Amino acid sequence: MGELDGRTALVTGGSRGIGRAVALRLAADGALVAVHYGGDEQAAMETVGLIAKAGGRAFAVRARFGESDALDRLFEGLGAELAEHGEDGLDILVNNAGIHLAGSIGQITEEEFDRVMAINVRAPLFVIQRSLPLLRDGGRIVNVASAATRISSPLQLGYTVSKTALAAFAAPLANELGRRGITVNTVNPGVILTDMTSAWTSAPQAVAGLESITALGRIGQPEDVADVVGFLAGPQGRWVTGQTVDVSGGTYLGPIPPA
Ligand SMILES: NC(=O)c1ccc[n+]([C@@H]2O[C@H](COP(=O)([O-])OP(=O)(O)OC[C@H]3O[C@@H](n4cnc5c(N)ncnc54)[C@H](OP(=O)(O)O)[C@@H]3O)[C@@H](O)[C@H]2O)c1
Repeated sequence: MGELDGRTALVTGGSRGIGRAVALRLAADGALVAVHYGGDEQAAMETVGLIAKAGGRAFAVRARFGESDALDRLFEGLGAELAEHGEDGLDILVNNAGIHLAGSIGQITEEEFDRVMAINVRAPLFVIQRSLPLLRDGGRIVNVASAATRISSPLQLGYTVSKTALAAFAAPLANELGRRGITVNTVNPGVILTDMTSAWTSAPQAVAGLESITALGRIGQPEDVADVVGFLAGPQGRWVTGQTVDVSGGTYLGPIPPA
């Protein structure tokens, strides 16, 4: 028996990368998982297929954040699929979908800033708002921000601002929802090997540089993040709320002594 048997979960951006690993982890623990995606249906169906192959339950739901009808599409699709599976509520919401934006103060445009804020901040805020009527007491919300909020790179200003705003959701929402036993937390991944980082991580010097400033000496894998989200989303995470967990293997903690 899995510790999430009988629970339902929505993972935004569950089709690829970190979101896929989170969806697989929650399904392996027994949850029925809604694998949200923005446009890559093949990737979403692959995730659903991987879950089914492992004996879990999942379905895909499409909504392109940044488009005006995205939230209606998401919650209509989610409601219909949950009903098909004999469910009418949600226990776990993981706000993972997001985009990166490179650029310093001299480079960022107003359009780019609006887009990164729309997808990384506005969408998860209103996904939470729309989820509340569905979210059962004892539920879990986990927002995937970034270690960029701690490691101040001028080369990703807009992204850092968006993820810092996302991380700010947890404490006030934890206070608002705590009396219902709902926890709200943030995870801050460091660099993780996904499509988002593939251009960067294909440069050996970049990888070596990152490894040299990371206590655990390697780049992260999606499962490194999924296991932390799984803990926060599961019964063992019941007494953690309003918090941010750095999931970077200890990137940029300070000088690392030579071996
Ligand atoms: N990878 C890292 O190093 C890293 C580090 C720190 C934080 N993060 C954060 O972790 C999260 C996942 O990152 P990842 O590396 O797994 O990214 P990824 O491989 O690029 O996957 C992004 C996911 O988000 C969905 N998505 C993107 N734009 C969307 C939109 N406009 N509407 C709806 N869905 C959208 C994608 O679905 P479609 O393909 O269907 O659009 C996909 O499922 C992001 O929030 C990212 O900022 C990543």
